[in-house]
Amino acid sequence: MAKDRHEEQRPPSRAPNPVSSTISRRGFLKGIGTGAITAAVAPAVLMTQPDTADAQTLPGITQAQITLKVNGKPYKVDVESRTTLLSVLREKLDLTGAKLVCDRGECGGCTVLMDGKPVYACMMLALDAQGHEITTIEGLAAGDRLHPIQEAFIEHDALMCGFCTPGFVVAIKGLLDKTPNPTLDDIKRGVSGNICRCGTYPRVFQAALTAAQKMRKGG
Ligand code: FES
Ligand code: FES
Repeated sequence: MAKDRHEEQRPPSRAPNPVSSTISRRGFLKGIGTGAITAAVAPAVLMTQPDTADAQTLPGITQAQITLKVNGKPYKVDVESRTTLLSVLREKLDLTGAKLVCDRGECGGCTVLMDGKPVYACMMLALDAQGHEITTIEGLAAGDRLHPIQEAFIEHDALMCGFCTPGFVVAIKGLLDKTPNPTLDDIKRGVSGNICRCGTYPRVFQAALTAAQKMRKGG
């Protein structure tokens, strides 16, 4: 059976990268003795420091300019070896649809598509995202026209606070592109890496089934 996002993206399964393999974010945090800093807040705190200052003061952190293709457009960004894809999207590209919630590959709030496959952007180093097509929730609508999945979420009132919604919509997009006529079980499996604290699951499932019909009819 195919591995789910939890299995694929939890350390140490990340594929080695010539630059990033020398240090992991968690290893880095341990290394500088930041026991009081939780994994949830560390990236936000650390990324407020100028990149150059960090690189000068923190051993093992390297910098690079990379190009990421996001929603069909190339972006040149300066990153450090520890910078996550989610940090780049939210803090450098101002694409804030993907949410930082657990920062540990548990909730799915940060879900984006990489080459059409849902991934946790909080668990993906920006360096590892080079050469791949990244799609965020911002890339789904065509101008003013919402994507059929977004329309179906509205029709089924499939959100309460809405914080988890971008992650669910993107995960469902990844599923429906691959499985245009899903069963309810397919849908449940497709969003099994996403958590909704408001408990809107039944409406999310219905929205996904409606979206599948819409997309089969050409949206
Ligand atoms: S913020 Fe990435 S999985 Fe929760
Ligand atoms: S709608 Fe609130 S967490 Fe899902």
